[in-house]
Amino acid sequence: MIILGIDTSCDDTCAAVVEDGERLLSNVVNSQVVVHHRYGGVVPELASREHIRNIVPVVTEALGRAGINDKDVGAIAVTVGPGLVGALLVGMNFAKAYSYASNIPLIGVNHLEGHILSIFLEERPPAFPFVALTVSGGHTNIYHVRGFGDYTVLGQTLDDAAGEAFDKIAKLLELGYPGGPVIEKLAATGRSDAIDFPRAYLSKGSLDFSFSGVKTAVALYVKKWRDPKAGDNTITIADIAASFQAAVVDILIDKAIAAAAQVGVKSVVLAGGVARNNHLRSRLQNMMTREGIDLYISSPEFCTDNGAMIAVAGYHRIIRGEEDDLTLDARSRFPLDQI
Ligand code: KG4
Ligand code: ZN
Repeated sequence: MIILGIDTSCDDTCAAVVEDGERLLSNVVNSQVVVHHRYGGVVPELASREHIRNIVPVVTEALGRAGINDKDVGAIAVTVGPGLVGALLVGMNFAKAYSYASNIPLIGVNHLEGHILSIFLEERPPAFPFVALTVSGGHTNIYHVRGFGDYTVLGQTLDDAAGEAFDKIAKLLELGYPGGPVIEKLAATGRSDAIDFPRAYLSKGSLDFSFSGVKTAVALYVKKWRDPKAGDNTITIADIAASFQAAVVDILIDKAIAAAAQVGVKSVVLAGGVARNNHLRSRLQNMMTREGIDLYISSPEFCTDNGAMIAVAGYHRIIRGEEDDLTLDARSRFPLDQI
């Protein structure tokens, strides 16, 4: 079955065509980075406007690259949440109209389920059960994944998401948006042990995260560092980026290992935009090898938001007999254990 997957949850207009929940036929992402860059973050109204402009060309390109016509599409899957409601509504209303006009099933998908299942686009996907760590601009969660549609939240962030922390520190350092890639690049030339930023592990055994402490510590440090009388002039901006990145990565790794031990699984999946970070990927790989755990990481193009992961999640809902109708609505908050 060929599924057209649509995601407009944040600032990327995404459409992809996937066959049988695993074979990628096309994947088109129209990034709005140039629109939001100068504001240092996503402006919701601008995101909605750009989605309206882009959705038809992006879908047309996805179908064209897949070499198919509208009549070859067996169902349309669309992100219903979590995300920016105005942005989500653009993809959802497009999907409703497409489903109605083509007379094909419509299926709403949770964006977080999409991130977890993006790993099934890889050649060597994991077997169930596994632990999934999803780290993006809007979310930082750990799940116990027992099967398609069978998820338990083990931990989540109590404040900022990991990617959001990268974005806020980049804004503070006047490096632009999105922060993750630029901090990673800068950190490569810095010393990760230059500054000992706090790592918040919370209570013993907790799999929750908190990144507001490290963010505040970096902000206070930068304020002092910028003061010519008080700052340590042996510290470079690259040292600050590297030390911040190391603090975030340490927490993510420790919690992923603790989660696998807690539920007794030997496979861990890393997904979401922050999973593009090479420092995180390589350090996590080293630690997992040492722990005897198999690590699965999505390819970079499937880490950040994309329609392919939505098509995969939609496919597994449809083959379980699920289908939505035109009353489907967008949800800004949508915890994965509520589906
Ligand atoms: O999954 P995603 O595309 O969108 C959300 O669902 O949020 O993730 C975007 C987030 C942004 O916060 C961005 O700064 C972060 O992923 N990101 C990175 C890297 N590339 C993207 N964070 C750290 N290192 C990177 N290389
Ligand atoms: Zn995402």
